[in-house]
Amino acid sequence: MIIAIDGPAASGKGTLARRIAAAYGLPHLDSGLLYRAVAWSLIARGVALEDAGQAEAAARGLDAAALGDPALRSEAAGAGASVVSAYPPVRAALLDFQRQFAATPPGAVIDGRDIGTVICPQAEVKIFVTASPEERARRRTRELLGRGEAVDEAAILADIRARDERDMNRSAAPLKPAADAALLDTTALDADAAFAAAAAIVDARALKTV
Ligand code: CDP
Ligand code: CDP
Repeated sequence: MIIAIDGPAASGKGTLARRIAAAYGLPHLDSGLLYRAVAWSLIARGVALEDAGQAEAAARGLDAAALGDPALRSEAAGAGASVVSAYPPVRAALLDFQRQFAATPPGAVIDGRDIGTVICPQAEVKIFVTASPEERARRRTRELLGRGEAVDEAAILADIRARDERDMNRSAAPLKPAADAALLDTTALDADAAFAAAAAIVDARALKTV
């Protein structure tokens, strides 16, 4: 079974994907980490994010062992990821890894922006998670504060809006719900309530495919 969970920054899709994966016994892939790793490899070497050729080379040479680097969780890596992820050759270079992850039994839970639309259009379950930009900025602020990082909520809201804008308006695999995705607005839901709603969607869809 393949479960695709897409949505904008800080909508809670990663937290949801981890919990769904644990509950259904499936491996989990956070596809955003791949784009973050490409961006971080440029940032760490002082290469401009606008250098599409270097970004493509980094995507082709990506080593799965690099995905555990805590630096990938920074806002700088996230913002950089949304720049390099707009380059079609970068997306093409990361496609096979994601498809193979999904195709390996017993299946997978993958979260990102284009999992239900491009990477796994055949996924049995597709959930598009949303929340208002203000609520997403509050969540990211709380998360960063919890990690002891200095934060400015207004700057985080501005970054989230800029990222939404770039992700929705790019021509390569723009952020949008698949036609057959279930929409899950978590603005008023905590992580437990979001998980319960998502599990009900998974159960209903999985039943239909037996
Ligand atoms: O956790 P958050 O939503 O903040 O970020 P992420 O999922 O790690 O994604 C970082 C950036 O990578 C996004 O803003 C997208 O531009 C890009 N991305 C993408 O293009 N396609 C994906 N499947 C996943 C991420
Ligand atoms: O992966 P994405 O960027 O969409 O979001 P996340 O990293 O899973 O979640 C961002 C923060 O929101 C985390 O600290 C979660 O604990 C919190 N949160 C959530 O995931 N779901 C809710 N319904 C409410 C809060």
